[in-house]
Amino acid sequence: MPEFIFNSTKAAPKSATKIILTSSATFDCGKFCKEETVHELKSAVKEAKFNGTFGQTVSVYNGKNRFILLGTGSKPTQLDIQTLGGKIFKQISMFEEAAFLVHPLPKSNLSSSDVAGNLAFGIELGGYRFDKYFTTKNSSDYPALDKVEFYAADGGLDTQCHRKLAAVANAVRYARDLCNEPANYLTPEVFAEDIKRLEYLGLKVEILDEKNLLSLNMNMLLSVAQGSHNLPRVAVIKWNGAPDKKEFDLGLVGKGVTFDSGGISLKPANGMGDMKGDMTGAAVVVATLKAAALCKATQNIVGIVGLVENMPSGHATRPGDIVTSMSGQTVEIINTDAEGRLVLGDCLWYLQEKLAPKTIIDIATLTGSTMRTFGFEYAGLFCNNDKMAADLYDKGEKSGEKLWRLPVTKEYDKLIDSDIADIKNCGPANAGGITAACFLQRFVQPQNNWAHLDIAGVDRDDKGHPLTPKGATGFGVRLLTKFINCW
Ligand code: BES
Ligand code: MN
Ligand code: ZN
Repeated sequence: MPEFIFNSTKAAPKSATKIILTSSATFDCGKFCKEETVHELKSAVKEAKFNGTFGQTVSVYNGKNRFILLGTGSKPTQLDIQTLGGKIFKQISMFEEAAFLVHPLPKSNLSSSDVAGNLAFGIELGGYRFDKYFTTKNSSDYPALDKVEFYAADGGLDTQCHRKLAAVANAVRYARDLCNEPANYLTPEVFAEDIKRLEYLGLKVEILDEKNLLSLNMNMLLSVAQGSHNLPRVAVIKWNGAPDKKEFDLGLVGKGVTFDSGGISLKPANGMGDMKGDMTGAAVVVATLKAAALCKATQNIVGIVGLVENMPSGHATRPGDIVTSMSGQTVEIINTDAEGRLVLGDCLWYLQEKLAPKTIIDIATLTGSTMRTFGFEYAGLFCNNDKMAADLYDKGEKSGEKLWRLPVTKEYDKLIDSDIADIKNCGPANAGGITAACFLQRFVQPQNNWAHLDIAGVDRDDKGHPLTPKGATGFGVRLLTKFINCW
């Protein structure tokens, strides 16, 4: 990533590509350009019919320097400004230096500092790449941009304008790195070690190994792991941002299936490789705690992630097996590919029994059903509390990681009653996302506020968008950091 400079007192460097934000066909480029450049820009504006609408650009090269007018539209949101940062990154990444001239947007209630901070955030998200496994690329294949400066048309910039968003961007990029990592490298054990490393930030991390899990009776989780050579782990991560009180304000639970082959109920070959990303929920939980530490959140937050690999083998769980969950409820395994709920059910129970947060959010790439319902637009939201659901919906709209609520009602819940055990791990073919949520709810104590986010489908971007380049998106980090007031 380039270095961002918000507090330069010098004039913008001559060699830098200069980007001037404007919401109309008129523009004020202050000290950025001389009279003759203003003329050139004006005629370019005319020719291109540039009128400052959102995302529109017009550019002029005078033989030495490049100038770009960038339209903000008349009332952009904070998210729009971030998107602009992601969009413009593509146009400037081949230059070494860029300088932005920003101005306040009173209609949007954004100061110059807000605009600068959000542009930088957009560049950090849109400029993400996962390139560690290339061995033969030339330096010309990589973005050249290594310095980005921000100037305010109305005076100076707040040197701290990017601080909190930098924490969030760091966390999003960390989550993406984990999700893009292939499953032969990121095993449950390696994942757990990486989480342990985060103690340097002031987080407390406890790793439970197979023995611990056995003595805790987390048999649903173990039943998923037992077919794999790679042993399971559970990580419990705590951020104690309100040291004066004991209770946790929030508990987060993440599905960390480092690879989901389906197990004995083996998945078809097509696209199976994407199942290295079946640990996105866990990555998002871990990254959100990282962000909480980086932005010094003032709450007590605990995260728990179940890290397992779902593989077929001679000692894998069979369809028809019955396992006893940590909660004591028995579960008939109908389909070994419905494994995420088994992992989450035991993690939810551990969280409530040992740490007792009253508000709980779990996040998981849980069902193909929810993916087919929403495509890349929304994640599924399931919640037992209307106020919490409304709050999460609102945070989704603001963060750009949008949620849409689906019901979790007793008619659906009936569908997972088993003939020979307390519960079965999957219902009929239809309403699969909902019956999966019903399964999880059987492991939620009714006095707790609980939300389940099904992020199958939004966990990766196959096309590429301004804030989410192709590959893992880290969906949920922006949303959850917004939920905990990190930004
Ligand atoms: N990890 C998958 C869900 C998934 C599918 C995530 C596509 C991302 C993209 C999950 O473990 C799964 O296999 N679910 C099954 C459940 C079914 C067997 C009841 C599904 O949704 O098909
Ligand atoms: Mn599965
Ligand atoms: Zn899965």
